[in-house]
Amino acid sequence: MKEEARYDFFRRELMAWFARSHRPMPWKGEKDPYLVWLSEVILQQTRVEQGLPYFERFRAAYPDVGSLAEAPEDELMKMWEGLGYYSRARNLQQAARFIVQELGGQFPATYDGLLRLKGVGPYTAAAIASFAFGLPHAVVDGNVFRVLARFFGIEASVDSSAGKKQFAGLAQALLSREQPGSHNQALMDFGATQCTPRSPNCTACPLHTACRAFQQGRVEELPRKGKKPAKKERFFHYLIFNRNGMAWIRKRTEKDIWRNLYEFPLLELARPAQAEADIRNSTCWEQRLGAGATARVSQASRPFSQVLTHQKIQATFWEIGLADEAPFNSEGLIAVKRENLSKFAFPRIIDWYLNDNSLYLEDSLTNIKPHLP
Ligand code: ADE
Repeated sequence: MKEEARYDFFRRELMAWFARSHRPMPWKGEKDPYLVWLSEVILQQTRVEQGLPYFERFRAAYPDVGSLAEAPEDELMKMWEGLGYYSRARNLQQAARFIVQELGGQFPATYDGLLRLKGVGPYTAAAIASFAFGLPHAVVDGNVFRVLARFFGIEASVDSSAGKKQFAGLAQALLSREQPGSHNQALMDFGATQCTPRSPNCTACPLHTACRAFQQGRVEELPRKGKKPAKKERFFHYLIFNRNGMAWIRKRTEKDIWRNLYEFPLLELARPAQAEADIRNSTCWEQRLGAGATARVSQASRPFSQVLTHQKIQATFWEIGLADEAPFNSEGLIAVKRENLSKFAFPRIIDWYLNDNSLYLEDSLTNIKPHLP
């Protein structure tokens, strides 16, 4: 088959498949660029099933760009909680403010205009441009890489800049000029449900007769990915000081992915602490309790792990009970009732711990039995 004919075949079969497939989603056919943007940013963080309730909550709380611009930051962080990469939520709000303040509330209606929004890259700009404005810009995400790599038998790694260019060029050449939005949506759905990463059902695929990877028995090999650099391992120890049902937290101000989230006083060590002495001998302990403090560690959690883009975090939570009269330096901290902790936005790893322990803590915080490793 000639290359042009392959393109025609691909487009035709893809759209026919899309017409048969039923994957209703609230943002499908959405023409409001604000809602398209919101759904796409949420979907960059999570799978469709998990993203749906977030999208619905955001749409209800912030139905337009103006309401998002004005949202109190803590509330926004709480709404985003569980999705991770909070910088995306902050970028959303910065972009919303930019649209309100600099563009008179008018959402940019061109690809280049969209690219100027904070946090909007080629993928999101193409999605908004094609879905909301019918503009001919091809989306290129993980699903698209996979479908194109297989159908066209592309060897280039999706992690290399040359590879990315090749995929982007091909996606743009393939794009239906008549229905760019539907074409993009079809391609994403096709990658998510038919041309799946593992064990795709190729004989049921309407493209398989012309799929190079299928013909060559290389479906599982493509797309090719380069080796990722090793992630840095970090060991966090959260000190939860408790007194009369209160615990102390702080708001993070560091310019990193957890900025403006809350946390317990944090001690970072080069290794997983096994003994209470590692905690007692730390500067964090001494800063809060003073030298020679007699406070008791009443519980050490199991290790919790979270894998981020560039690092692997292991966290242990140390519950420390303070007597009424024990000195405690709460500088920079906020005292919060344990039962109110859920009102604050925490990094996910802290949420996992709090949810894991909620039943246990509710009824017996004042009298925790030590269970140290
Ligand atoms: N993933 C990201 N964007 C999507 C969309 N518009 N539809 C389905 N899955 C998606």
